[in-house]
Amino acid sequence: MSDSERPLTYNSYLLVDQLLGCQRPQSQLAGQPAHDEMLFIVVHQICELWFKQILCELDRVRRVFLQPKDGWPDLAIAIDGLDRIQKIQRVLQQQFEVLETMTPLGFLAFRDRLGSSSGFQSLQFRLIEIRLGLRRDQRLGPAACPFDQDLSEADKALLARAEREPALIDLLEAWLESSPYLDYVGPPGEAAFTFKQSYRLASTGDAFDSLFDENRHGELQAKGAWKLSAPALQTALFIMLYQQEPALRLSYQLLDRLMEMDIGWTAWRQRHALMVQRMIGRKIGTGGTTGDDYLKRASEHHRVFADLFTLATYLVPPSRVPPLPPSLQAALRSPQMTPVPRQRQA
Ligand code: HEM
Repeated sequence: MSDSERPLTYNSYLLVDQLLGCQRPQSQLAGQPAHDEMLFIVVHQICELWFKQILCELDRVRRVFLQPKDGWPDLAIAIDGLDRIQKIQRVLQQQFEVLETMTPLGFLAFRDRLGSSSGFQSLQFRLIEIRLGLRRDQRLGPAACPFDQDLSEADKALLARAEREPALIDLLEAWLESSPYLDYVGPPGEAAFTFKQSYRLASTGDAFDSLFDENRHGELQAKGAWKLSAPALQTALFIMLYQQEPALRLSYQLLDRLMEMDIGWTAWRQRHALMVQRMIGRKIGTGGTTGDDYLKRASEHHRVFADLFTLATYLVPPSRVPPLPPSLQAALRSPQMTPVPRQRQA
């Protein structure tokens, strides 16, 4: 019986032998075994497996927007994917608790054997960042060497290719820009609705300009204060203000889950930085960064969906939310309503 004819078993299906053959503590190979190195390797490998699953989920979430059904993305699928990622992020954070059963001295027993290897070279982590939408020019400069410096040429090319593909934030932006809510023309006799005009009455001057004045928004975007375009931000604000309308529930949930995921990465980065501080204090990292200082700054600077949080600055109390024209409100109250995407201008 050939291998392909044998019935699958637990071992042959999961390739358990190969999996369990992947742990090679350097201290053991050198004949001076350090007990904690096995834990160090296993925890890293577990994280890499979860990164793999997260990439798989992110690909599906991106496909929802890349291949919309009847012109409108199936948001429920994207929300499910983001929910799953959030649960995995919690498990990823817990890994640090396990690793911290190793003491700093236990780590020092084998740290020198790691050479220049570091999580900084994790290809999958970089891919996740790129798939989310962290651009090369948005990465921290002086505290860290170029993020792909120590990768193989093939891996550098793989990341460069991924950088040319639409990231989740680009897809979110295009979807928000194509939504029909900012300028709505109802039936004859009903005044046309523009979100900009009606919101002007509800919000204060400077806050209004940062979002609705193209020049002011452009200045802020150039400084890195906004990532998303003005129309995308305005639509996101519209969704937040009118989140109770049945037709906007899924859109609001999507924005909410993107924020949850952003929190999940920030929390993971902060938790990792605290663990690193505990293990190595202010020593520089094996990957060549300033270590603790770089990691703490990256946890804030490398956030991709921070714009969605900033929008809370522009929310007004429910009593001041501008009323919608009757036909738009009726359409949004029908759960069956599938918004007709606006034609994007060339
Ligand atoms: C004793 C445990 C650990 C220590 C001391 C440590 C230390 C560091 C340091 C100092 C850096 C900054 C880059 C450098 O200069 O090396 C870093 C980056 C990183 N580490 Fe760890 N690490 C530990 C465990 C882990 C684990 C379990 C993972 C899970 C995969 C991980 C993933 C990463 C990633 C993805 C980065 C890149 C972060 C970024 O660039 O924003 N590390 N680590």
